[in-house]
Amino acid sequence: MLNLGIIGCGNIVGMHVRHLDRTPIHVTCVMDIDPARARAMGERLGCAWTTDRAALLARDDVQAVLVATPNIDHAESAQAALAAGKHVLCEKPIVTTLEEGIEVAQAAREAPGIFQSAFMRRCHPAYRELRRLVQEEAGEIQHVTIRNSGGVPAAKWLDIQNDANYVRLMVSNLVTSGCHSLDIMRWVLGEPRGVFGKTRSWGDLPYEGYTTATFDYDGFVACWDYGLHRVLGVGDWRTGWEDTWEVTAERARITLSMPDWDRYEENRPILRIHWGDGRVEEPMLPACDYYEVQLNAFAANVAAGTANPDAMDGFRAQALVEAIRTSTATGQVEAVGAYYEKAMK
Ligand SMILES: NC(=O)c1ccc[n+]([C@@H]2O[C@H](COP(=O)([O-])OP(=O)(O)OC[C@H]3O[C@@H](n4cnc5c(N)ncnc54)[C@H](O)[C@@H]3O)[C@@H](O)[C@H]2O)c1
Repeated sequence: MLNLGIIGCGNIVGMHVRHLDRTPIHVTCVMDIDPARARAMGERLGCAWTTDRAALLARDDVQAVLVATPNIDHAESAQAALAAGKHVLCEKPIVTTLEEGIEVAQAAREAPGIFQSAFMRRCHPAYRELRRLVQEEAGEIQHVTIRNSGGVPAAKWLDIQNDANYVRLMVSNLVTSGCHSLDIMRWVLGEPRGVFGKTRSWGDLPYEGYTTATFDYDGFVACWDYGLHRVLGVGDWRTGWEDTWEVTAERARITLSMPDWDRYEENRPILRIHWGDGRVEEPMLPACDYYEVQLNAFAANVAAGTANPDAMDGFRAQALVEAIRTSTATGQVEAVGAYYEKAMK
């Protein structure tokens, strides 16, 4: 069993703890600045609760910490947990600026505990199978299209954009969730050399809502489309959600369509492989709770002493966000290596 403390008791923690009984994780203490939320989660999980982060971190029965606060707090709480000698599973985005990313990567290198970025897509069997096919069977890649978007009613979109406090805490849609899709792109395809991107919002509101970027790889380009739109009822699941891949390579065209991240039990991933010799395969993939497989992977990583994805993966996802933003501002292609090198200094 791995004894876990939780910092921040909001919506996402409900997803993390849904299938705790199918993991080797035991929650011993939870913390939130809002006492009602801390208490409710403590009572739900039958564990101690507090509004004092230092008190949670001082407990001997907390070996590891899940950081699930708003985005702008992640770097601070994660570093406090690392300094207290805890293993850390940090919600994405692990940071909201490159400077924070450099600090967290440094702290993670020096700490005794492991630091895992909560890019849970890497733990899902469907993405693992996509990666295996692309890296081991498909042959030389010729072209890739990745689309990840969610449908949001127009009124809710306006609520988000006009809520200055929400924007302050979460920064933007590209920062808060684009990092998921950028991380999985790096994990499946490797490192891009450059990016040409354009972020858009609706009207003159500040929240980056939709982004299109072209990533330049050795020998191919990956077209990446990410964001929120107002058209509900589209996509394979008719919910407005799309998380799709199309990889055209020397020996196969592979397509993957993933179900809504928070409604995994209703739909299964659809993976199709059109082989160059005419065969079409559609392997049956399991419906799978992202958060359950992530907690199981975290416990295994703590036991092994290595994190995947680690703090540098979190930093690199933010580096790609920054490169897209700069490209949007300058209208130029940005070299990705220059952003990555900042973490080495
Ligand atoms: N992995 C995913 O797919 C996924 C999905 C949704 C959200 N998230 C991430 O999870 C995080 C939380 O999102 P949410 O939807 O649960 O938000 P939320 O607003 O529902 O919950 C945040 C909680 O943190 C508490 N809090 C705020 N500042 C704090 C601090 N300094 N110390 C302790 N507690 C503090 C708030 O009181 C609140 O209870 C965000 O970073 C978000 O990006 C990840």
